[in-house]
Amino acid sequence: MIGIFDSGIGGLGVLIQVRRLLPAVDIVYVADHARAPYGTRSLKEVADISADISGRLIEKGAQTVVIACNTASAAALHSLRAEFPNTSFVGMETAVKPATMETRTGVIGVLATAATFQSELYESVVQRFGGDATIRTAACPDWVEMVESGIIDGPAVEHTVRAKIEPILEEGADTLVLGCTHFPFLLSSIEAVAGPNVTIVDPAPAVGRQVARVDPGSGSGELSLMSTGDPGRFEELVRKLGGSELSLSALAFGD
Ligand code: DGL
Repeated sequence: MIGIFDSGIGGLGVLIQVRRLLPAVDIVYVADHARAPYGTRSLKEVADISADISGRLIEKGAQTVVIACNTASAAALHSLRAEFPNTSFVGMETAVKPATMETRTGVIGVLATAATFQSELYESVVQRFGGDATIRTAACPDWVEMVESGIIDGPAVEHTVRAKIEPILEEGADTLVLGCTHFPFLLSSIEAVAGPNVTIVDPAPAVGRQVARVDPGSGSGELSLMSTGDPGRFEELVRKLGGSELSLSALAFGD
């Protein structure tokens, strides 16, 4: 079984990619609504939360845990590998590397959570892959809130998105990195504000491919969607945002 977690519904984008590549694998997805959002917590708190969820997924039989959350990956990927040496972990790195291959102006905008920007992992990605690019950042906690409320398009969303990306575009950015798994849900609004000449980088497909390399295992294709918060509310959101591929019942996590 593959376990996947995020603070909420952001990781569904990664889950969809994994399901496409590995339709026969059993998956348990946990949305940690009880402790969301992660992005405004300290890295230590997010590391402790990530260890708790990973431990519980491993108890349920996960051989691989996918951290479908940039914040939790930044806070905990290394410590989780040390704490659970018999489990494979696939995490998310802010996609600065592909962005440097796309940019023509040499200016890249990175959109993520405040916690991600404070992490050593983010710093090391910029050091290793940033090259000569100028990187402009914006923490967007309000974007996470909108997605969790099921509000992903319309004038109010565009207004909120514009407030964060317009200053970055004015500095010459032609490439935007979605460094939080909630943000691809806002893609149509981001594209509407950014216009056709800006490339938007979503790392979810690459993470899906990495999971398929690490754990191509088989099963009966069972998918369980769980929330540490209100399963009814989660199910509603999954039906609204997860598309037909994920229209299943959600369960409470911890039973
Ligand atoms: N989806 C998470 C990420 O990728 C974080 C959202 C939150 O703040 O909980 O960073």
